[in-house]
Amino acid sequence: MQIVLVGYMGSGKSVVGQALANRLQLPFLDLDDYIEQEVGKDIPEIFRQKGEIFFRKKEHEFLREVLDSKDDLVLSAGGGTPCYSGNMDLLLNTTPNVFYLQMSVPALTARLIGEKDHRPMISHLRPEDLQEYIGKHLFERRPFYSRAHHSIPCEGKSVEEIVAAIAGKLV
Ligand code: S3P
Repeated sequence: MQIVLVGYMGSGKSVVGQALANRLQLPFLDLDDYIEQEVGKDIPEIFRQKGEIFFRKKEHEFLREVLDSKDDLVLSAGGGTPCYSGNMDLLLNTTPNVFYLQMSVPALTARLIGEKDHRPMISHLRPEDLQEYIGKHLFERRPFYSRAHHSIPCEGKSVEEIVAAIAGKLV
C-alpha cells in the first residue's frame, strides 16, 4: 500500500506521515529528505546553487522512482510537488490513498513564521508579508491539492486525531 500526504509547507506532512507509518508499521519516506540524500545537498543549497527548475526536475524524477518501486510506504510530498510536472496525475494514477492535509492561511502563517529561513520559497519574505504571500500561493496551489482523494481538515487537531482520520479512509 502506498499512502501519500500532500499539502502546503507547514501543514504537518512529515510529522503526520511519520506517525501514520508507525501506526501502520510501514516505512516512511519524506520526498525532500530523499532528494537531499540523492543530490547530496540540502534543499536551500539546491535552490541557491542549482535553481528551482533543477529542483523541480529532481523532485519529479525521484517521485517517479519512489512510486515505481511499488514498495509499501507512507510518503510525504513536498509542498510544491503536486503542482508541477504532472505529479498530481502520477500520484492519483498510482494509488487510491492520496490525502490533502488542509489548514487555514493564518494557521500556516503561525507555523511558518519561525521556520521560514530554511524554506527557499519564503525565506526572502519579511515576516509581515508572509500571510499575504501564503494566501496568494495557497490560492494558486489549492486546485492541485484538492484533487487528492481525501481532504483532511487538520486545524486544531492532534497528530493522533489526524492519523486516525486518515487510517479510517484507507482503501
Ligand atoms: C516547497 C516545499 C518544501 C520543499 C521545497 C519547495 C514548495 O517542502 O519541497 O522547499 O514549493 O512548497 P515542505 O512542504 O516539506 O516544506
